[in-house]
Amino acid sequence: MASELIDRFGRHVEYLRLSVTDRCDFRCVYCMAEKMEFLPRAEVLSLEELYDVGAAFSRLGVRKIRLTGGEPLVRRDVLTLVERLGQLPVELVLTTNGSQLHTMAQDLAAAGVQRLNISLDSLQPERFARLTRTGRLTQVLDGIEAARSAGFHGVKLNSVILRGRNDDEVLALVEFARDAGLDISFIEEMPLGQITEHGRLESFCSSDELREVIDSRYPLHDSPERSGGPARYFRMADSDIRIGFISPHSHNFCSECNRVRVTVEGRLLLCLGNEHSVDLRAVLREFPGEAARLEQAIIAAMALKPEKHEFRLDDEPQILRFMNMTGG
Ligand code: 5AD
Ligand code: SF4
Repeated sequence: MASELIDRFGRHVEYLRLSVTDRCDFRCVYCMAEKMEFLPRAEVLSLEELYDVGAAFSRLGVRKIRLTGGEPLVRRDVLTLVERLGQLPVELVLTTNGSQLHTMAQDLAAAGVQRLNISLDSLQPERFARLTRTGRLTQVLDGIEAARSAGFHGVKLNSVILRGRNDDEVLALVEFARDAGLDISFIEEMPLGQITEHGRLESFCSSDELREVIDSRYPLHDSPERSGGPARYFRMADSDIRIGFISPHSHNFCSECNRVRVTVEGRLLLCLGNEHSVDLRAVLREFPGEAARLEQAIIAAMALKPEKHEFRLDDEPQILRFMNMTGG
């Protein structure tokens, strides 16, 4: 069935990113403030409500659901939600910081998660600890190992590169990915939430610059493959892995946008870089069990999807919600 979700610009929404918690065991410097206040429980969708949202989008033609956070795997009993969503006729995928995978990877694969994206910004233990403020590299590396052997259809690494913090590790990360046989994407930092540790202008590293660094060591061939997302992919002659670049600043990918997000408060966000949203929690709680109301609210929301984001490369706060409130 084709998606019933079509916006004013003719874009078909076929991909939902569903945040299952705003909490996280890490405090990555580009994602969160050091001291974060998390949402009170009453404001957070229950696992039942999260399932209802996923099921409604599936009925409306969404083909792919990505669970995000915060860190999705720190939500209590998240596996029960994963198992139910795993029964829907969608591709179920998940983005994680990897900290819980050493114990959860097998269960996630068994519950129907088909692919994982795992964040990895540094291979140096002390630097990893500084970037994540609380993370332990060895635990994440164990998690990546567990994910590789758990039988997923795909495991991919994601790295946010910041000048002066980890830009000297791009080749090391590529080599790690080559040795592990995993695709890797490099992401330009997005101006979400007000952070104080670094200026976003001074830390900006463009994808083009990273591509040149990699190309001088491992010549890159443009690959026409697209995953229906913002990443552009490249291949190397002597490896099977793909190298992706996600460049919200340097390449605008909005015209091909096929996705929306739902925050754990039930706010349907039509664009990562704009505040247009619809309160699905209000619908869920005013009309419990009335699936048609929820579907109507989702269909009506499509009219609000903005044409594009306009991230600026300066240090003025742009989007005030942090990534953990946005859904990765
Ligand atoms: N800009 C770009 N990527 C970010 N992430 C978190 N905050 C930001 C940001 N401001 C990334 C994480 C992870 C994914 C969930 O989102 O590194 O890969
Ligand atoms: Fe947690 Fe991911 Fe944000 Fe890091 S980027 S603090 S791992 S949600």
